[in-house]
Amino acid sequence: MGDKVWGFNDSGLQSHAQYLTVSENEAIAHIPEGITYQQAAASIEGAHYAYNFIKRVPFGGNRKVMLNGASGAIGSAALQMLKYYGAEVTAVCNTQNLGLIKSLGADRVIDYLQADFTQDWKLYDFVFDAVGKSSFGKCQRLLKQGGVYISSELGVNAENPFLAMWTPFRGGKQVRFPLPTDRKGSIVFVKKLLEGGKFRPVIDRWYPLEDIAEAYRYVLTGQKTGNVMIRCNQDES
Ligand SMILES: NC(=O)c1ccc[n+]([C@@H]2O[C@H](COP(=O)([O-])OP(=O)(O)OC[C@H]3O[C@@H](n4cnc5c(N)ncnc54)[C@H](OP(=O)(O)O)[C@@H]3O)[C@@H](O)[C@H]2O)c1
Repeated sequence: MGDKVWGFNDSGLQSHAQYLTVSENEAIAHIPEGITYQQAAASIEGAHYAYNFIKRVPFGGNRKVMLNGASGAIGSAALQMLKYYGAEVTAVCNTQNLGLIKSLGADRVIDYLQADFTQDWKLYDFVFDAVGKSSFGKCQRLLKQGGVYISSELGVNAENPFLAMWTPFRGGKQVRFPLPTDRKGSIVFVKKLLEGGKFRPVIDRWYPLEDIAEAYRYVLTGQKTGNVMIRCNQDES
């Protein structure tokens, strides 16, 4: 009783409830020392998807990664996880977020308002599109032989799950479309990163609970940076 915990559940509409019962075997953990409730809350949803996408492929050990949408909730978490695993990351964002993305560890940053990342001159082991704005077709030329394309979105014609089924059999460049089912693994991993000072949640803005519709409208612009937070209780810390 009274422990400071945080958790995650993306399985239904109860996500915005102020109180929730969660089994101790599910995605719930003690908040690390020195981390506030707000920081903990901003450290899980995008991080959960990022973790589930990148853990299915060997992203670490100096692998070269092109990360599109690095300033989003998934992208900003993925960038920090990729750096934790030792990948060399070229990250894509807009002019306004160049400083933020460098501060999160990107080795090189491409401003998508100035250049088309799909026309980059380098070859990569992985292209990870964390906002799903590209396609395997456009990104193939960036991949080394055997390189892998992952997108957080289905694709313009919902092609990514199908490409993920057949490209591994034909050899060469591949598509993966991991299902983000491991919630417990996500929170255990993020907790470890927070404890080691290897993860900094990016918070864009806060809305009080009564303005949640306004918060959704802002998120739907597709231009948020990191996470948008809902404050249920003015006294939270
Ligand atoms: N597969 C799954 O299970 C799953 C689960 C959750 C979410 N998703 C999907 O994953 C995507 C990302 O979610 P999210 O919450 O991380 O998104 P998000 O935070 O809303 O992404 C917004 C970010 O995308 C960037 N962006 C917008 N247009 C861009 C472009 N043309 N090129 C590069 N970056 C661009 C924006 O950067 P600037 O401000 O710099 O423009 C902004 O920082 C969403 O499409 C969501 O539907 C998939």
